[in-house]
Amino acid sequence: MDKLLVHGGAPLKGAINISGSKNASLPILAATILTGEDCLISRVPDVSDTNYMVQILSALGADVERYSGTVRISCADVAEEAPYDLVRRMRASICVMGPLLARKRRAVVSLPGGCIIGDRPVDLHLRGLEALGAKVEFEGGNMILTAPDGLRGAEIDLRGTHGPTVLGTDNVMMAATLAEGVTVIESAAAEPEVVDLANFLNAMGAKITGAGTTRIEIEGVSELHGVRHTVIPDRIEAGTFMAAAALAGEGVTLRRVCQEHLKAITAALVRAGHRIEFNPAGDTCSVHRGDEPKGCDLTTAPYPGYPTDMQAQMTALLATTPGISVIKDTIFPQRFMHCAELKRMGADITVDNGTAVVRGVAGLSAAPVMASDLRASAALVLAALTAKGTTAINRLYHIDRGYEHIDEKLLMLGANLERVKA
Ligand code: EPU
Repeated sequence: MDKLLVHGGAPLKGAINISGSKNASLPILAATILTGEDCLISRVPDVSDTNYMVQILSALGADVERYSGTVRISCADVAEEAPYDLVRRMRASICVMGPLLARKRRAVVSLPGGCIIGDRPVDLHLRGLEALGAKVEFEGGNMILTAPDGLRGAEIDLRGTHGPTVLGTDNVMMAATLAEGVTVIESAAAEPEVVDLANFLNAMGAKITGAGTTRIEIEGVSELHGVRHTVIPDRIEAGTFMAAAALAGEGVTLRRVCQEHLKAITAALVRAGHRIEFNPAGDTCSVHRGDEPKGCDLTTAPYPGYPTDMQAQMTALLATTPGISVIKDTIFPQRFMHCAELKRMGADITVDNGTAVVRGVAGLSAAPVMASDLRASAALVLAALTAKGTTAINRLYHIDRGYEHIDEKLLMLGANLERVKA
């Protein structure tokens, strides 16, 4: 098990490339189940979550080759049952359910277990697939979905207590591509990753309109074909490096970003007193730490609101920003595990009922800390960049789930850190 030693105090300077999006890649990889033809997907980040998805597809019988960011997948024939041992490692495995059901008319996927960022039910996924005509049964920890006569289009409202569901929208959208008739998803998730999946499916021959809005319409087709696709830039990786640059930077440039997808994150950093500039094409941005950073309030919301996946990193930045910041996570109200670890480094944070009140302190000091989930780990790395002394971040496998070579990218920007065996 690796840990990261971060020797705080080295300023970040220079330029790096942002990788392809993890959260767009995962459902896109799963969507290849919908066709027997070859799919070629580029800019798939080399992170353990995409590796798990590739392993699940291989275990289902797909023929998969992977060369530096490009994955070729052929699902000429696939089994219906996703193996528990692989599925249990990653919640996003659940997005093989819609494609398996559509292609094989039967899908067996184990129920995802607990998750550190909060209770993450799958009721909305199942509600959507049931509306398309699937019968849902539970047995031995598995969800067994069957639709022996095929799926039928339907009108479905996917709104839950905490708003729309991203992977739920993906699952229903994928299943509906091969259903008979028209499906309308109301209260759909509008995240750029959903749009990327819809573009991938349309390139395969699907008929989807409205992706990127809260109403998606899918006209079922009888079959889909192979396709080439390039995954969109990872807006959360970009945002994480933007926050790192605001915290510890002396002029950092990020290439291969998408300005449109970064509006809420940019606005938050500007409110906190930092300067962000994009080139006219909107694919490169430079981040300059402000001379007078100031605390700001944040509330997470579905896209185009401020993303929950950038809540922890911004909390780390605001921990040493003068003033009081109030941070509310409406999507995952329990997603504040990083705060206890930041407090061990000297941060002044009170968490209550889905809200963190952060009183900016002059500086943090190093301590051994424990990564609890992907974005919490990123927050600890950020905090360590300016903390006094050497911070040891344990359980680094969490960060390797979703950040491609984060230690190497930070080294290229001048950070002083090393990955060691724990
Ligand atoms: N929810 C339900 N019922 C469901 C599904 C979701 O109540 O059937 C609730 C969740 O508990 C949560 C809210 O709805 O309160 C939103 O969850 P959502 O379903 O949108 O989450 P997800 O699709 O499982 C994706 C990302 C997460 C990201 C969330 C929210 C992927 C692979 N995962 O998860 O990313 O936090 O959307 O934007 O796309 C991460 O990358 O670190 C990460 C956790």
